[in-house]
Amino acid sequence: MSEKHKLASGARALLAGAIGVLTALAVTTPAGAAAGTLGAAAAQSGRYFGAAVAAGHLGESAYVTTWDREFNAVTPENEMKWGPIEPSRGSFNWGPADQIANHAMSKGMKIRGHTLVWHSQLPGWVNGNMSAGDLRSAMINHINQVMGHYKGKIYAWDVVNEAFADGGAVGTLRNSVFTQKLGNGFIEEAFRAARAADPNVKLCYNDYNIDDANASKTRGVYNMVRDFKARGVPIDCVGLQSHFGNPPANYRQNIAQFAALGVDVQITELDIGGSGSAQADAYRRVTQACMAVSRCTGITVWGVTDKYSWRSGDTPLLFDGNYNKKPAYNAVLNILNGGSTPPPMGGGTIRS
Ligand code: G3I
Repeated sequence: MSEKHKLASGARALLAGAIGVLTALAVTTPAGAAAGTLGAAAAQSGRYFGAAVAAGHLGESAYVTTWDREFNAVTPENEMKWGPIEPSRGSFNWGPADQIANHAMSKGMKIRGHTLVWHSQLPGWVNGNMSAGDLRSAMINHINQVMGHYKGKIYAWDVVNEAFADGGAVGTLRNSVFTQKLGNGFIEEAFRAARAADPNVKLCYNDYNIDDANASKTRGVYNMVRDFKARGVPIDCVGLQSHFGNPPANYRQNIAQFAALGVDVQITELDIGGSGSAQADAYRRVTQACMAVSRCTGITVWGVTDKYSWRSGDTPLLFDGNYNKKPAYNAVLNILNGGSTPPPMGGGTIRS
């Protein structure tokens, strides 16, 4: 064998050895190595990273491939809401929600159930013509049936969604058929019914504009959770929807103040309008805020791709319309992998 050939075969042997090592690394992902997907990276700290998914897009292979590859949790975007799932009284349309749930379970993903009691996307038969007693029994039956159907399959339920008003004194609830007929106690009734329906699932209160630690709406939800904990009303988690233009500077303190009440905090519907490095930086700060609080157990972005976002004009998600990773994706992945410790987020005292 010529010197040239000896060198070439030596180089090949080295290359083969290197590929073997790299393959072993890729398969075992030893401690300290960076994970290559959002779900795997989040799992390193015991967290999940999910996406809202719509059954109507499951026929699109790039959509499903991206969901499966990157995320280890899911929230059905609309399919489990009262209107879509119980369109006429006592008659349930499980198909689209089951499609998402079955797929998620086959991949070992966590499922967030969204949502049992919400003033919006109600079926037409739930309305102000019902008596209080009738509405109450409809609500409790709905909770029993839906939670019963998914018993053992769901990680956390958004039991009540968006019950607080955007203005008014601290603690003001949104005017809805529920407050009109059942009074402010409907939230507690719903949580008690939910615990009875499935004692083994996490029960969350979920809302938007409760991301700023000191906002009046945040104070209202904070006081409710504190009151529930003090009186033994079952509640396990608070969902911060987090539909952002710019995340508040005291977001981490906000997560910490809810966690200090003895509940988990989940970022449930994250999306941030913008593009490029500004958007990436905002996503980075949000991810750092969750990683800084041990009871912040997971993050869900409100969609897989910009093109199907409810606010697609803001291009608020981690994948563009062609499923390309955006700078925001890399920023999130880096933080989930332990990149750089959170800087102080400043602003906002934690009130009790
Ligand atoms: O499925 C029907 C279809 O049959 C019909 O032809 C079509 C005509 O408009 O409507 C379709 O339903 C739409 C549904 O999304 C599914 O695409 C509804 O009109 C539309 O209102 C609904 O929007 C959803 C919205 O909630 C409803 O308020 C969004 O997809 C969904 O992303 C959004 O999610 C909410 C969370 O649940 C709670 N927090 C805020 C968040 C953003 O608004």
